[in-house]
Amino acid sequence: MAIRLWALCLTLAATNAVPSYYDGYQTVDRPTQPVQMRIAYNGPYGVTVSWNTFQQIQRPTVRFAEEPYFLYRTASSEDSTTYPTSLTYSNHVRLNGLLPDTQYYEQYLIDGSNSSQPLSFRTAKEAGNHEPFTVGVVVDMGTFGPLGLSTATGVGAANPLRPGEHTTIQTLSQQLSELDFVVHPGDLSYADAWLKEEIQRYLPNTSRIDNPTVYEHINNAFYDELVNITSYKPYMVSPGNHEANCDNGGTKDKTNGVTYTEAICPVGQTNFTGFRNRFRMPSGPSGGLENFWYSYDYGMAHFVSIDTETDLGHGLTGPDEGSPEFSGPFGLMNQQLDWLEKDLASVDRRKTPWVVVLGHRPFYNSAGGICTNCSANFEPLFHRYGVDLYFCGHSHVYNRNAPIYNNVTDPRELNNPNSTWYIVNGAAGHYDGLDTLNYPLMPYTRYAQDQDYSFSKLIFHNCSHLTQQAVWSSNGSVYDEATLFKDRDCAKGLWKE
Ligand SMILES: *[C@@H]1O[C@H](CO)[C@@H](O)[C@H](O)[C@H]1NC(C)=O
Ligand SMILES: *[C@@H]1O[C@H](CO)[C@@H](O)[C@H](O)[C@H]1NC(C)=O
Ligand SMILES: *[C@@H]1O[C@H](CO)[C@@H](O)[C@H](O)[C@H]1NC(C)=O
Ligand SMILES: *[C@@H]1O[C@H](CO)[C@@H](O)[C@H](O)[C@H]1NC(C)=O
Ligand SMILES: *[C@@H]1O[C@H](CO)[C@@H](O)[C@H](O)[C@H]1NC(C)=O
Ligand SMILES: *[C@@H]1O[C@H](CO)[C@@H](O)[C@H](O)[C@H]1NC(C)=O
Ligand SMILES: *[C@@H]1O[C@H](CO)[C@@H](O)[C@H](O)[C@H]1NC(C)=O
Ligand SMILES: *[C@@H]1O[C@H](CO)[C@@H](O)[C@H](O)[C@H]1NC(C)=O
Ligand SMILES: *[C@@H]1O[C@H](CO)[C@@H](O)[C@H](O)[C@H]1NC(C)=O
Ligand SMILES: [Fe+2]
Repeated sequence: MAIRLWALCLTLAATNAVPSYYDGYQTVDRPTQPVQMRIAYNGPYGVTVSWNTFQQIQRPTVRFAEEPYFLYRTASSEDSTTYPTSLTYSNHVRLNGLLPDTQYYEQYLIDGSNSSQPLSFRTAKEAGNHEPFTVGVVVDMGTFGPLGLSTATGVGAANPLRPGEHTTIQTLSQQLSELDFVVHPGDLSYADAWLKEEIQRYLPNTSRIDNPTVYEHINNAFYDELVNITSYKPYMVSPGNHEANCDNGGTKDKTNGVTYTEAICPVGQTNFTGFRNRFRMPSGPSGGLENFWYSYDYGMAHFVSIDTETDLGHGLTGPDEGSPEFSGPFGLMNQQLDWLEKDLASVDRRKTPWVVVLGHRPFYNSAGGICTNCSANFEPLFHRYGVDLYFCGHSHVYNRNAPIYNNVTDPRELNNPNSTWYIVNGAAGHYDGLDTLNYPLMPYTRYAQDQDYSFSKLIFHNCSHLTQQAVWSSNGSVYDEATLFKDRDCAKGLWKE
């Protein structure tokens, strides 16, 4: 591994006849070439198109239309932004006034000319549209390949990929046509594993402490690897603990008896800086806050993304365990909770009978990592406003629980429960492999596995039936499936909650 990386660096150094820009994964020869293209919903009739470049763009501009032949509409912004240590700029442009459930084609203006091939995305089904749809869910997914999870591991790391084993990104890409969009509630790229990877001799000891580029390389590599997903399907993200800073709040070098704290992180690699730069989640249209908390509608479902890492409310600045102590708050005291209550209270259940919350940390789980400060604050609101499903990760296992409230399992199970259903699937894969289940499993756990990498699909059939499938990343097979039934009269749009 080390030899391969060194060889790459030497090759780059030797071939500098044409200027080239290396981001840790790929080399481009123009500093304005778009990389890491990604789409996010932004309000009922809008999307945000984002991409990175090695150079700042004066006025990021996108041409777009319903047909690829003549992209007659133009949108621009002044939003070409970076931060100390970043190797790239994040560019964001909002496209507004779009028709719902419609295919659009877009291209990026490069140096004032139309140089990129059009890409294409589909806008959200309008709230109240009760047609079926499917959402891909990945949580805790890191960079695959030589900078992250591969067939090799460092000393003490576990669960390497088997030779030829497909990654979650590969299998998700193969199944992309089945998915309307993808959600990733936290822990993206695991760039903060760089120091651990160096300590464990997985990466060469090139840059310990004084060179921040390894962290940035891992970040860029992740978004480069994801490009065939994020270019075509909206990709909605939430904050996880690994977005907080450069070393997950502290990394131990046991061999040399050194403990690195967050204090080694340079400006740019603390306090969710990269995450704040890279995305523009729809907090504007939903009254939320940056990429931290926001909501959006898709057809018959209202999706809410919460922040389990900071801003818990009631004076709690973060979760009790693994707290990113030197991060946030981003809002005022109780701002997130007050927003959540208002957001849930304003849902029109006739239009969007389903309410799904995405967040990073579990409230119920058979592999630890339970954030009791999160559940103390959020769970009463979930119950009061009839949230159907909370989907999370953080724990690197799959754990489907029963509907539950206040640690009491709903006796109706999935047959019209009035408690929220809790699912954990943090097994998408990253450098540190999988976690292990604690036996005996919690009495509310209905299916759990800690053996292999996986992601999930949420299939919204109609106003009364929602299926969750857990899928092996290695071969795309469904290994667990369960359907939540809610007794609602779909034809009338009238039901008890
Ligand atoms: C870019 O393409 C649009 C149509 O898609 C056209 O109107 C415009 O003139 C082109 N601009 C350049 C600089 O080629
Ligand atoms: C690895 O990094 C440590 C800490 O910077 C340094 O003390 C050590 O000499 C380095 N080892 C090698 C082989 O470069
Ligand atoms: C994306 O898809 C293209 C075309 O199939 C392929 O050449 C490229 O390698 C893919 N990129 C990644 C990062 O998988
Ligand atoms: C989380 O809650 C516990 C009590 O359950 C408290 O002791 C701890 O300080 C809280 N953590 C934070 C970061 O607020
Ligand atoms: C993190 O950033 C927010 C927003 O800029 C700021 O209010 C907060 O004080 C920062 N927290 C720390 C620990 O630097
Ligand atoms: C919830 O109940 C389980 C047993 O059913 C118990 O092990 C666990 O400690 C309880 N959790 C809390 C937060 O009370
Ligand atoms: C939920 O259902 C249980 C019976 O399964 C009932 O005892 C309880 O009152 C219900 N709660 C609400 C808020 O409807
Ligand atoms: C809703 O979808 C489920 C699963 O496909 C199906 O069994 C049920 O009949 C549908 N209900 C209505 C009212 O369409
Ligand atoms: C798919 O992968 C899983 C986990 O890697 C394995 O247990 C299962 O046997 C595979 N199924 C098929 C049909 O190959
Ligand atoms: Fe996490």
